[in-house]
Amino acid sequence: MDQDFKEILFAEEEIQKRVRELGQQISRDYGSEGDLVLICILRGAVVFLADLARSIDRQVTFDFMDVSSYGAGTESSGVVRIIKDLEENIEGQHVLIVEDIIDTGQTLKYVVDVLQTRKPASVKIVTLLDKPERRVTKQVKIDYNGFEIPDEFVVGYGLDYAQKYRNLPFIAVLKPEAYS
Ligand code: PRP
Repeated sequence: MDQDFKEILFAEEEIQKRVRELGQQISRDYGSEGDLVLICILRGAVVFLADLARSIDRQVTFDFMDVSSYGAGTESSGVVRIIKDLEENIEGQHVLIVEDIIDTGQTLKYVVDVLQTRKPASVKIVTLLDKPERRVTKQVKIDYNGFEIPDEFVVGYGLDYAQKYRNLPFIAVLKPEAYS
């Protein structure tokens, strides 16, 4: 499998350290007041959610949403649909959306717009990775960001290529030969 990677971008220890820092920052910012729901956007953010949640020192609940861009391929088209909606009502709750990566920003813009109509107390975003070069919308504000990365195809720690590599504990750049 190692031959599929151009380079290791973030080693396991580096990711764990950064996730702990994000958890501490989130714990400080939210304090203990109110209800905080972590909304994990399936499927890539599952690994990040599991580690992040255990670094947050206050009560939280989990909910899950699966969204998909119309059209195949590695690019999101901007037209998003809900495959699986939340189980719980978020009215009056503090919502923290947990993402693995923000690329064009179109998925998150859609999710935030949908969630805002449900009258939460607040909506914030935490993402492990941000690819700012690829952004097409200025309307997504990232509140907590693990790492800014260049425009390369990355896998591991939840991120996939054709559903593979999600279980790697590190994040690597895939060689173009591995996906062409
Ligand atoms: C990825 C990622 C975001 C979205 C970001 O999900 O988890 O949800 O793409 O892209 P955007 O900023 O260009 O909208 P993906 O569709 O690959 O699904 P997955 O999490 O199940 O792998």
